[in-house]
Amino acid sequence: MIEIRHVGHAFGERTVLRDLSLDLTERRIAVVGGNGSGKSTFARLLNGLLVPTRGTVRVDGLDTRRDGRAVRRKVGFVFQNPDNQIVLPVVAEDLAFGLKNLGLPKDEIARRTDEALRRYGLHDVADHPAHLLSGGQKQLLAIAGVLAMAPDVIVFDEPTTLLDLRNKRRIAQAIDGLAQRAIVVSHDLDLLEAFDRVLVFEDGRVVIDDKPAVALPAYVAMMS
Ligand SMILES: Nc1ncnc2c1ncn2[C@@H]1O[C@H](COP(=O)(O)OP(=O)(O)O)[C@@H](O)[C@H]1O
Ligand SMILES: [Mg+2]
Repeated sequence: MIEIRHVGHAFGERTVLRDLSLDLTERRIAVVGGNGSGKSTFARLLNGLLVPTRGTVRVDGLDTRRDGRAVRRKVGFVFQNPDNQIVLPVVAEDLAFGLKNLGLPKDEIARRTDEALRRYGLHDVADHPAHLLSGGQKQLLAIAGVLAMAPDVIVFDEPTTLLDLRNKRRIAQAIDGLAQRAIVVSHDLDLLEAFDRVLVFEDGRVVIDDKPAVALPAYVAMMS
């Protein structure tokens, strides 16, 4: 479980998150809000990519400020742009990269890489240059790379924003099919309808925290 206590964040003089206290336990949690409302900053706090200037974030009791490495094993992160996530030129090598960093034995790396490639229909392109994949395939590869690390929770920051409709659907299905818990920042409200909880951000605060049936219409009304 992720416990957020009196968290605030500022970049220099600019305060972007204000006194958030939340327990994130649900299987599917959505984060919505206007541009600049603090969603990405919030998302990055959840796995210690960013440490808050005030307050604490704990994952299963581990403080992101002190135990960043351990937290990043529990909480995976998928960026909006998969080009920021894909580090090696060949698909299969890219997938294996994170696992090598974990120091796993070779056969375990091969097993997990193979499983992740098959799961997302990337097996046929395992030996291809990653830059030749379509946008949707790249995002699937990025998700596969995170999934291969076997985190308990995966945070997605606008995973479908750069994709066309067909690829948006593939990513939505991939998220839907995850056994892991997921926290998803998105403007794609259709994707969020079946979620357990929606957090609506405005100016660094959570102004609505409710089920999608209540929170999404309220958010749409707020933005219009
Ligand atoms: N590294 C940074 N340095 C300075 N300001 C930042 C930085 N990252 C984000 N901001 C500012 O913080 C505010 C919130 O940004 P962000 O969390 O990215 O919002 P969102 O994802 O909701 O669009 C914005 O005004 C943005 O310009
Ligand atoms: Mg953002």
